[in-house]
Amino acid sequence: MTLTEIVDQWALRSSAIRSTKATWLRMRTDGRIDALIRAADPVAQAIGRALRRTRDRDLGDSRPWVERIEAERARLAADTSLVKPPGSAESGPYDDGVTIQQACGVSKTKRDALALHFLVRELAPNLGLELGTNVGISSSYIASAMRLNGRGRLVTMEGSPLRARIADGVHQNLDLRVEKVLGLFTQTLAPYVERCEPLDFVFIDGHHQYQPTLDYFAAVERKLVDGALVLFDDIRWSEGMLRAWTELARDPRFRVVVDLDRYGVCVFTRAPSRDRVHVRLKI
Ligand SMILES: C[S@@+](CC[C@H](N)C(=O)[O-])C[C@H]1O[C@@H](n2cnc3c(N)ncnc32)[C@H](O)[C@@H]1O
Repeated sequence: MTLTEIVDQWALRSSAIRSTKATWLRMRTDGRIDALIRAADPVAQAIGRALRRTRDRDLGDSRPWVERIEAERARLAADTSLVKPPGSAESGPYDDGVTIQQACGVSKTKRDALALHFLVRELAPNLGLELGTNVGISSSYIASAMRLNGRGRLVTMEGSPLRARIADGVHQNLDLRVEKVLGLFTQTLAPYVERCEPLDFVFIDGHHQYQPTLDYFAAVERKLVDGALVLFDDIRWSEGMLRAWTELARDPRFRVVVDLDRYGVCVFTRAPSRDRVHVRLKI
Protein backbone atom coordinates (compact mmCIF):
# COMPACT_ATOMS: atom_id res chain seq x y z
CA MET A 1 0.00 0.00 0.00
CA THR A 2 1.34 3.44 -0.92
CA LEU A 3 1.65 6.25 1.60
CA THR A 4 -1.20 8.13 -0.15
CA GLU A 5 -3.48 5.09 0.19
CA ILE A 6 -2.62 4.74 3.89
CA VAL A 7 -3.41 8.45 4.49
CA ASP A 8 -6.68 8.15 2.52
CA GLN A 9 -7.77 5.11 4.52
CA TRP A 10 -6.88 6.83 7.79
CA ALA A 11 -8.88 9.96 6.79
CA LEU A 12 -11.85 7.79 5.82
CA ARG A 13 -11.74 5.94 9.11
CA SER A 14 -11.47 9.09 11.25
CA SER A 15 -14.36 10.73 9.39
CA ALA A 16 -16.46 7.58 10.01
CA ILE A 17 -15.51 7.73 13.72
CA ARG A 18 -16.46 11.43 13.85
CA SER A 19 -19.84 10.86 12.27
CA THR A 20 -20.55 7.84 14.54
CA LYS A 21 -19.66 9.98 17.55
CA ALA A 22 -21.92 12.82 16.34
CA THR A 23 -24.82 10.39 15.84
CA TRP A 24 -24.27 8.88 19.27
CA LEU A 25 -24.17 12.37 20.91
CA ARG A 26 -27.35 13.38 19.09
CA MET A 27 -29.12 10.22 20.25
CA ARG A 28 -27.92 10.76 23.81
CA THR A 29 -29.24 14.36 23.81
CA ASP A 30 -32.57 13.23 22.33
CA GLY A 31 -32.81 10.55 25.02
CA ARG A 32 -32.22 13.11 27.76
CA ILE A 33 -34.81 15.49 26.32
CA ASP A 34 -37.29 12.58 26.13
CA ALA A 35 -36.52 11.71 29.76
CA LEU A 36 -37.39 15.29 30.76
CA ILE A 37 -40.63 15.14 28.78
CA ARG A 38 -41.52 11.88 30.58
CA ALA A 39 -40.51 13.13 34.06
CA ALA A 40 -43.16 13.23 36.79
CA ASP A 41 -42.58 16.95 37.40
CA PRO A 42 -44.80 19.04 35.09
CA VAL A 43 -42.24 21.87 34.92
CA ALA A 44 -39.52 19.38 33.90
CA GLN A 45 -41.89 18.16 31.18
CA ALA A 46 -42.39 21.73 29.95
CA ILE A 47 -38.61 22.31 29.88
CA GLY A 48 -38.24 19.11 27.86
CA ARG A 49 -40.87 20.25 25.35
CA ALA A 50 -39.17 23.66 25.00
CA LEU A 51 -35.79 22.02 24.38
CA ARG A 52 -37.34 19.63 21.86
CA ARG A 53 -38.83 22.58 19.93
CA THR A 54 -35.49 24.39 20.05
CA ARG A 55 -33.61 21.35 18.81
CA ASP A 56 -36.12 20.68 16.03
CA ARG A 57 -36.25 24.39 15.08
CA ASP A 58 -40.01 23.94 15.33
CA LEU A 59 -40.79 27.67 15.13
CA GLY A 60 -44.50 27.53 14.26
CA ASP A 61 -46.20 30.86 14.98
CA SER A 62 -42.98 32.16 16.60
CA ARG A 63 -41.29 32.37 13.18
CA PRO A 64 -42.28 35.96 12.27
CA TRP A 65 -41.03 37.17 15.65
CA VAL A 66 -37.74 35.30 15.34
CA GLU A 67 -37.19 36.77 11.88
CA ARG A 68 -37.91 40.32 13.04
CA ILE A 69 -35.70 40.02 16.15
CA GLU A 70 -32.87 38.56 14.09
CA ALA A 71 -33.21 41.47 11.63
CA GLU A 72 -32.74 43.83 14.61
CA ARG A 73 -29.71 41.82 15.70
CA ALA A 74 -28.24 42.05 12.19
CA ARG A 75 -28.80 45.84 12.16
CA LEU A 76 -26.91 46.26 15.46
CA ALA A 77 -24.22 43.75 14.49
CA ALA A 78 -23.40 45.97 11.49
CA ASP A 79 -23.17 49.16 13.57
CA THR A 80 -19.55 50.03 14.29
CA SER A 81 -20.29 53.25 16.17
CA LEU A 82 -19.39 53.49 19.85
CA VAL A 83 -21.95 52.65 22.55
CA LYS A 84 -20.60 55.67 24.42
CA PRO A 85 -20.15 58.54 21.94
CA PRO A 86 -17.17 60.86 22.56
CA GLY A 87 -18.04 63.45 25.19
CA SER A 88 -21.00 61.48 26.56
CA ALA A 89 -21.45 62.02 30.29
CA GLU A 90 -23.44 58.80 30.64
CA SER A 91 -21.77 55.42 30.93
CA GLY A 92 -22.23 51.83 32.05
CA PRO A 93 -19.78 49.46 33.73
CA TYR A 94 -18.41 48.07 30.44
CA ASP A 95 -19.06 50.80 27.85
CA ASP A 96 -15.68 52.50 27.33
CA GLY A 97 -14.36 51.97 23.81
CA VAL A 98 -17.00 49.33 22.99
CA THR A 99 -18.83 49.45 19.66
CA ILE A 100 -22.52 48.61 19.28
CA GLN A 101 -21.38 45.69 17.14
CA GLN A 102 -19.24 44.36 20.02
CA ALA A 103 -22.01 44.92 22.58
CA CYS A 104 -24.42 43.07 20.34
CA GLY A 105 -21.91 40.22 20.13
CA VAL A 106 -22.41 39.33 23.80
CA SER A 107 -26.15 38.79 23.33
CA LYS A 108 -27.49 35.27 23.56
CA THR A 109 -27.00 33.37 20.34
CA LYS A 110 -30.05 32.67 18.21
CA ARG A 111 -30.18 29.05 19.37
CA ASP A 112 -29.91 29.88 23.07
CA ALA A 113 -32.39 32.75 22.72
CA LEU A 114 -34.81 30.38 21.00
CA ALA A 115 -34.62 28.07 24.01
CA LEU A 116 -35.46 31.06 26.24
CA HIS A 117 -38.40 31.91 23.97
CA PHE A 118 -39.78 28.36 24.03
CA LEU A 119 -39.31 28.04 27.80
CA VAL A 120 -41.47 31.14 28.19
CA ARG A 121 -43.99 29.81 25.69
CA GLU A 122 -44.27 26.51 27.54
CA LEU A 123 -44.39 27.92 31.07
CA ALA A 124 -46.36 31.12 30.39
CA PRO A 125 -44.98 33.09 33.36
CA ASN A 126 -46.82 36.09 34.81
CA LEU A 127 -43.79 38.15 35.72
CA GLY A 128 -40.31 37.72 34.29
CA LEU A 129 -37.19 39.48 35.53
CA GLU A 130 -33.98 39.74 33.50
CA LEU A 131 -30.66 40.93 34.92
CA GLY A 132 -28.62 42.29 32.01
CA THR A 133 -30.60 43.92 29.19
CA ASN A 134 -27.60 44.79 27.02
CA VAL A 135 -28.99 45.82 23.60
CA GLY A 136 -32.30 44.02 24.06
CA ILE A 137 -31.98 40.74 22.15
CA SER A 138 -32.82 38.17 24.85
CA SER A 139 -35.53 40.44 26.28
CA SER A 140 -37.11 40.58 22.80
CA TYR A 141 -37.17 36.78 22.65
CA ILE A 142 -38.77 36.60 26.11
CA ALA A 143 -41.26 39.44 25.56
CA SER A 144 -42.35 38.12 22.15
CA ALA A 145 -43.09 34.73 23.73
CA MET A 146 -45.20 36.52 26.36
CA ARG A 147 -47.03 38.38 23.59
CA LEU A 148 -47.80 35.09 21.82
CA ASN A 149 -48.93 33.58 25.14
CA GLY A 150 -51.31 36.50 25.67
CA ARG A 151 -49.98 36.91 29.20
CA GLY A 152 -46.83 37.92 31.08
CA ARG A 153 -44.84 41.04 31.78
CA LEU A 154 -41.06 41.41 31.50
CA VAL A 155 -38.88 43.70 33.59
CA THR A 156 -35.23 43.97 32.60
CA MET A 157 -32.37 45.57 34.57
CA GLU A 158 -29.31 47.26 33.11
CA GLY A 159 -26.39 49.28 34.49
CA SER A 160 -25.69 51.13 31.24
CA PRO A 161 -28.23 53.81 30.30
CA LEU A 162 -26.66 53.84 26.83
CA ARG A 163 -27.26 50.13 26.22
CA ALA A 164 -30.75 50.43 27.70
CA ARG A 165 -31.51 53.18 25.16
CA ILE A 166 -30.34 50.96 22.30
CA ALA A 167 -32.58 48.22 23.69
CA ASP A 168 -35.46 50.72 23.84
CA GLY A 169 -35.01 51.29 20.10
CA VAL A 170 -35.09 47.53 19.44
CA HIS A 171 -38.21 47.05 21.56
CA GLN A 172 -39.93 50.01 19.88
CA ASN A 173 -39.10 48.71 16.41
CA LEU A 174 -40.60 45.37 17.40
CA ASP A 175 -43.55 46.97 19.21
CA LEU A 176 -42.73 45.03 22.39
CA ARG A 177 -43.39 46.33 25.87
CA VAL A 178 -40.41 45.73 28.18
CA GLU A 179 -40.04 47.67 31.43
CA LYS A 180 -36.51 48.79 32.27
CA VAL A 181 -34.90 49.39 35.63
CA LEU A 182 -31.65 51.33 35.28
CA GLY A 183 -28.65 51.19 37.61
CA LEU A 184 -26.22 48.70 39.09
CA PHE A 185 -27.88 45.50 40.30
CA THR A 186 -26.41 46.08 43.77
CA GLN A 187 -28.53 49.25 43.93
CA THR A 188 -31.64 48.31 41.98
CA LEU A 189 -32.33 44.62 42.57
CA ALA A 190 -33.23 44.55 46.29
CA PRO A 191 -35.58 47.57 46.15
CA TYR A 192 -37.26 46.19 43.04
CA VAL A 193 -37.77 42.73 44.58
CA GLU A 194 -39.17 44.42 47.69
CA ARG A 195 -42.00 45.99 45.71
CA CYS A 196 -42.61 43.52 42.87
CA GLU A 197 -45.28 40.85 42.55
CA PRO A 198 -44.31 37.16 42.89
CA LEU A 199 -41.74 36.14 40.29
CA ASP A 200 -42.07 33.02 38.19
CA PHE A 201 -39.26 33.57 35.66
CA VAL A 202 -35.80 35.00 36.40
CA PHE A 203 -32.90 35.20 33.97
CA ILE A 204 -29.57 36.19 35.53
CA ASP A 205 -27.31 37.34 32.68
CA GLY A 206 -24.94 40.00 33.99
CA HIS A 207 -22.01 40.45 36.40
CA HIS A 208 -20.80 36.90 35.88
CA GLN A 209 -18.81 36.32 39.05
CA TYR A 210 -19.08 33.87 41.94
CA GLN A 211 -20.39 36.00 44.82
CA PRO A 212 -22.59 38.39 42.79
CA THR A 213 -24.34 35.41 41.15
CA LEU A 214 -25.13 33.84 44.53
CA ASP A 215 -26.13 37.25 45.96
CA TYR A 216 -28.51 38.00 43.08
CA PHE A 217 -30.19 34.62 43.49
CA ALA A 218 -30.48 35.23 47.26
CA ALA A 219 -32.06 38.63 46.54
CA VAL A 220 -34.78 37.23 44.25
CA GLU A 221 -35.46 34.05 46.24
CA ARG A 222 -37.99 35.52 48.67
CA LYS A 223 -40.28 36.51 45.77
CA LEU A 224 -40.01 33.26 43.80
CA VAL A 225 -43.15 31.16 43.52
CA ASP A 226 -42.94 27.39 43.91
CA GLY A 227 -42.06 26.06 40.45
CA ALA A 228 -40.44 29.33 39.28
CA LEU A 229 -37.83 29.01 36.56
CA VAL A 230 -34.42 30.51 37.36
CA LEU A 231 -31.83 30.66 34.59
CA PHE A 232 -28.13 31.36 35.07
CA ASP A 233 -26.20 32.33 31.98
CA ASP A 234 -22.53 31.75 31.15
CA ILE A 235 -22.10 29.12 33.85
CA ARG A 236 -18.70 28.08 32.48
CA TRP A 237 -17.53 31.57 31.57
CA SER A 238 -15.03 31.77 34.45
CA GLU A 239 -13.75 29.68 37.32
CA GLY A 240 -15.95 31.74 39.68
CA MET A 241 -19.08 31.18 37.58
CA LEU A 242 -18.42 27.44 37.41
CA ARG A 243 -17.98 27.35 41.20
CA ALA A 244 -21.25 29.26 41.69
CA TRP A 245 -23.03 26.95 39.25
CA THR A 246 -21.63 23.80 40.91
CA GLU A 247 -23.09 24.97 44.23
CA LEU A 248 -26.40 26.08 42.73
CA ALA A 249 -26.84 22.84 40.79
CA ARG A 250 -26.58 20.87 44.07
CA ASP A 251 -28.87 23.22 45.97
CA PRO A 252 -31.96 21.36 47.26
CA ARG A 253 -34.02 24.51 46.69
CA PHE A 254 -33.94 23.52 43.02
CA ARG A 255 -36.03 20.44 42.32
CA VAL A 256 -35.03 20.32 38.63
CA VAL A 257 -31.62 21.30 37.24
CA VAL A 258 -30.89 21.23 33.53
CA ASP A 259 -27.30 22.02 32.60
CA LEU A 260 -27.25 23.23 29.00
CA ASP A 261 -23.48 23.75 29.04
CA ARG A 262 -23.60 27.52 28.42
CA TYR A 263 -26.47 28.13 30.79
CA GLY A 264 -28.36 26.44 33.55
CA VAL A 265 -32.12 26.11 33.92
CA CYS A 266 -33.42 25.48 37.44
CA VAL A 267 -36.87 24.96 38.94
CA PHE A 268 -37.24 26.49 42.37
CA THR A 269 -39.13 24.63 45.10
CA ARG A 270 -40.44 25.69 48.47
CA ALA A 271 -40.49 22.03 49.59
CA PRO A 272 -36.94 20.69 49.12
CA SER A 273 -36.68 16.91 48.85
CA ARG A 274 -34.08 14.33 47.86
CA ASP A 275 -36.15 13.53 44.80
CA ARG A 276 -34.50 15.80 42.23
CA VAL A 277 -34.07 15.75 38.46
CA HIS A 278 -30.56 16.67 37.26
CA VAL A 279 -29.79 16.46 33.56
CA ARG A 280 -26.88 17.70 31.45
CA LEU A 281 -27.23 18.11 27.72
CA LYS A 282 -26.14 20.30 24.80
CA ILE A 283 -28.86 21.52 22.46
C1 LIG B 1 -24.15 39.49 28.76
S1 LIG B 1 -24.91 41.05 28.74
C2 LIG B 1 -26.62 40.64 28.69
C3 LIG B 1 -27.04 40.06 27.37
C4 LIG B 1 -28.54 40.01 27.15
N1 LIG B 1 -29.21 39.33 28.22
C5 LIG B 1 -28.84 39.31 25.85
O1 LIG B 1 -28.58 38.09 25.75
O2 LIG B 1 -29.36 39.96 24.93
C6 LIG B 1 -24.71 41.62 30.38
C7 LIG B 1 -25.26 43.01 30.63
O3 LIG B 1 -25.29 43.23 32.03
C8 LIG B 1 -24.87 44.55 32.32
N2 LIG B 1 -24.25 44.50 33.65
C9 LIG B 1 -23.14 43.81 34.02
N3 LIG B 1 -22.89 43.97 35.32
C10 LIG B 1 -23.85 44.78 35.80
C11 LIG B 1 -24.18 45.28 37.11
N4 LIG B 1 -23.41 45.00 38.15
N5 LIG B 1 -25.27 46.06 37.24
C12 LIG B 1 -26.06 46.34 36.15
N6 LIG B 1 -25.81 45.89 34.91
C13 LIG B 1 -24.74 45.11 34.74
C14 LIG B 1 -23.89 44.92 31.23
O4 LIG B 1 -23.86 46.33 31.04
C15 LIG B 1 -24.43 44.15 30.03
O5 LIG B 1 -25.26 44.96 29.26
